[in-house]
Amino acid sequence: MDPLTRTEQTLAAAVAAVEVPGSPPRLGAAIRHAVFPRGARIRPRLCLSVARACGDDAPELANAAGAAIELLHCASLVHDDLPCFDDADIRRGKPSVHKAFGEPLAVLTGDAMIVMAFEIIARAGATHPARLAPVLLTIARSVGAPVGITAGQAWECEPAAVLRDYQRAKTGSLFVAATIAGAAAAGADPTPWQAVGEQIGEAYQVADDIRDAVADEAELGKPINQDIVHARPNAVHELGLNGAVERLQALVAGSMAAIPDCPGAGELQALIMSEAKRLKPKKLDLAAA
Ligand code: IPE
Ligand code: IPE
Ligand code: MG
Ligand code: MG
Repeated sequence: MDPLTRTEQTLAAAVAAVEVPGSPPRLGAAIRHAVFPRGARIRPRLCLSVARACGDDAPELANAAGAAIELLHCASLVHDDLPCFDDADIRRGKPSVHKAFGEPLAVLTGDAMIVMAFEIIARAGATHPARLAPVLLTIARSVGAPVGITAGQAWECEPAAVLRDYQRAKTGSLFVAATIAGAAAAGADPTPWQAVGEQIGEAYQVADDIRDAVADEAELGKPINQDIVHARPNAVHELGLNGAVERLQALVAGSMAAIPDCPGAGELQALIMSEAKRLKPKKLDLAAA
């Protein structure tokens, strides 16, 4: 089964487990709203592609790791859109969770999804106890402090932030978790996969910065120019548009070069190339034509 189908099935089961008699129905509905319909699911696809490249001999654990990472990503978006952060009304082309369900439930939705993520890994890891701690630790590190998403978002509460520290923490960390957890779930040495995750993660945030500056809301399904509105560090503001595009190209090339020699290398390279193409704003294609 392909990584996307595996991810959708695991997420569907995780969300359905909350929508049971005795659970507050609007909490289940808000969690469903945050997870479906899907975005790109790039992080779990990356995680499962790495697991496949490493033999994928414990697919249940790899599925859980990928789905947990996506739940954490979706939770981070629910909190990121709140009025006290980016105050964004639209996410994935529809009302953000606090717009649809109100702020208290949006806070609780993000909280519940963070806990669900660790719960599904713990459950799947029971059959591979030796792999459970490395998978849990790498994912926990990627969402907490000092270098995970929490730290990344906290840089916005400082008077100044270094662009790369900010981007590595708020976005890069979950990509590193995806590659390392994919390898660890398959019982492989995760060391060579760190650099792959780091470069893809940084590339992804530079691409997001370019899209924030150049694309339009209909293309992205979320508000644009948010980094100017909120005075956030952004690669286009710091490097100029050409500088940011060059940096993106260097990071994409670097991530491809970092992939260790393995049977799944081709699949991973294809995933990176298709994402690089998808993330390029249409306006840049027109400008180059
Ligand atoms: C958006 O992530 C937030 C960033 C860190 C750039 P994605 O672009 O992966 O969002 P979805 O999941 O596809 O909606
Ligand atoms: C989101 O960063 C990264 C998170 C940790 C949630 P942004 O605020 O730049 O992403 P978008 O533009 O809202 O998706
Ligand atoms: Mg933000
Ligand atoms: Mg935002």
